[in-house]
Amino acid sequence: MPYPTNSRPARMWMSGVLLLLALLPFGLQPDAAAEDEVAGAVAFSHKTHAPLKIPCGRCHAGATTGDRAGFPALDACRVCHTAMTTEQARFPVSRVFRLPDFVYFSHQIHAGAKADCGRCHGNVNAMAKVTPEVTMNMKFCVDCHTETKAPAECYVCHELGQ
Ligand code: HEC
Ligand code: HEC
Ligand code: HEC
Ligand code: HEC
Ligand code: HEC
Repeated sequence: MPYPTNSRPARMWMSGVLLLLALLPFGLQPDAAAEDEVAGAVAFSHKTHAPLKIPCGRCHAGATTGDRAGFPALDACRVCHTAMTTEQARFPVSRVFRLPDFVYFSHQIHAGAKADCGRCHGNVNAMAKVTPEVTMNMKFCVDCHTETKAPAECYVCHELGQ
């Protein structure tokens, strides 16, 4: 167990940390972060961390405020894993959800429309490794737009001329 934090004092310390988490925003890694597999990075398990109830936005700050949800930087992990190195916390290790460049998408717009993360990404908190439980093809997007009376003309998601 590389990061033993399960003892009672560790748990008490952890609740202090969680309080801190509620107050401090984490830094974000630039979006240009590795698209390829990253050697040496530790695997992050949402499932292991789910009981801590850290809001998604603490680690994916752009999910409600930008086009891209983004990935956490080292600071986000070091709050609890104080010995973690930059090398170990290089995310993403590999991308799971990726639209082709000719499709426009914005997280902020969908957060504003109260679309739940799980509707598009599945129950991430139950996953040790994120897998594409939901297939985000064009039909998936258009069906929900029709259902929610959101605009569904071609140019909404594709720039004309592309
Ligand atoms: C309406 C569907 C939808 C909803 C709702 C949604 N996402 Fe996404 N998410 C996507 C798509 C599509 C991509 C891929 C974007 C791309 O490749 O340009 C993505 C990518 C991501 C990524 C990878 C990094 C990035 O920004 O490309 C993360 C992390 C993420 N989403 C987290 C979240 C979280 C957290 C929430 C809830 C607050 C959320 N998403 C809500 C569709 C959605
Ligand atoms: C709020 C505190 C907290 C934060 C923030 C946090 N962790 Fe953890 N992490 C824990 C706890 C608690 C455990 C469970 C330890 C145990 O049960 O032995 C854990 C376990 C782990 C493990 C052990 C393997 C497993 O089962 O998952 C790894 C690896 C890990 N965390 C990586 C990360 C990374 C990477 C980040 C940053 C993206 C991060 N953690 C952020 C508290 C945290
Ligand atoms: C403690 C930090 C942390 C929290 C909290 C967190 N995530 Fe993540 N998330 C990560 C890290 C780190 C990765 C990258 C894992 C990897 O590269 O193996 C990731 C990856 C993802 C991905 C895969 C994106 C892609 O395309 O590769 C999705 C989707 C996602 N998270 C959604 C969520 C949702 C939804 C929540 C809240 C229920 C959430 N995350 C909470 C740290 C976090
Ligand atoms: C949960 C249902 C739902 C899903 C799934 C969904 N959308 Fe949306 N989308 C909406 C709603 C509702 C709006 C309107 C938000 C508003 O106008 O405030 C919207 C707005 C948009 C807009 C901005 C439209 C404008 O006003 O110009 C784009 C672009 C978009 N969605 C693309 C996508 C893409 C691409 C996907 C698939 C990866 C997708 N959406 C999946 C519900 C959804
Ligand atoms: C709500 C968003 C949305 C709307 C509206 C939309 N598309 Fe798409 N479109 C997508 C997504 C997402 C993909 C990528 C699918 C994938 O990668 O599997 C795509 C892919 C495509 C492709 C590439 C081939 C394919 O099927 O993957 C073509 C061509 C296309 N769209 C044409 C259109 C036309 C024509 C319209 C209008 C009738 C339209 N789209 C409306 C989201 C949308």
